[in-house]
Amino acid sequence: MPSVRCSDMYKNIHAAVVGSINMDIVLNMDRVPEVGENVLGTTYGYACGGKGANQATGLARLGAQTKMIGKVADDANGRRLIENLGKNGIDFSGVATNGTQTGLAAIIIDGDGRNRIAVYEGANSEIDPDEAADCIDDSLDLLLVQFETSEEVVVKCVNRAIEKGITTVIDCGPAKDFALEKMQGATVISPNESETKALTGISPDDDSSILKASEILKKRSNAQFVVLKLGERGCSVYDGESLKVLPSYETNVVDTTAAGDSFTAALALEYKRSGDIYSACDIANKAGAIAVSRMGADASMPTVKDIEKLI
Ligand code: RIB
Repeated sequence: MPSVRCSDMYKNIHAAVVGSINMDIVLNMDRVPEVGENVLGTTYGYACGGKGANQATGLARLGAQTKMIGKVADDANGRRLIENLGKNGIDFSGVATNGTQTGLAAIIIDGDGRNRIAVYEGANSEIDPDEAADCIDDSLDLLLVQFETSEEVVVKCVNRAIEKGITTVIDCGPAKDFALEKMQGATVISPNESETKALTGISPDDDSSILKASEILKKRSNAQFVVLKLGERGCSVYDGESLKVLPSYETNVVDTTAAGDSFTAALALEYKRSGDIYSACDIANKAGAIAVSRMGADASMPTVKDIEKLI
């Protein structure tokens, strides 16, 4: 299995992300409140987030030429988020700024680093499907999407990319049922545990349920690979014939926010580079482990050097 050796290994990959851009307000507390209860927090802060923008940052930090396609409003949060994309070296020419209100996520992190996230979609739900799909052209090698924009946007962009022969990775967050049948033949489909349950009705708790859920996802999407993110158990890969589980890396969990985004970005890039799904999953497990050991959403995305250190 090849390992990450040089920091410019992904520099020739032209990637785009169609997805959400949110301002995250993050509140840390020892334990989360019950209904009707008022619990004091320990710290709070604002962070640049949104599954789409986090994945774009993940790609850019790893060195890919990255373009973000999405929507914000011309408000204080929207301006700050666009500025942050630019600081991360992301081409934001595909981000429209005429939304009604920029997306917002309220995130509570408990004492064990686990999160609860409530999202106001705002401008993310106003992306024009045709405008987004028109950004997907022959210059791209790789497309990443998630489910934090409208179904029409996701379906149109994925199908445009598949038609063009672009490697297409579908991250199934947040958890919801989704018409996978409308986008047949992506390269990778990758839900986490709760997303797997929402899409298949099965909790991937053991080898047999992981296989059953993966078979359903493969049948519904006809994706080349089904990669389940299994949290501290690592991830599984199903190619229609065999199932393999790749273990995670031990780490000190500080904040699980955006671990899945970090995983998906690394998975997509390494698969595009090497064509080896197992090596891609291994590097994705490392990227996820690094993200959970750091606070924040896009701020927790690793560079190739960070991944090398973990090796
Ligand atoms: O995946 C993490 C992200 O989900 C957060 O940054 C938040 O914005 C929500 O979209």
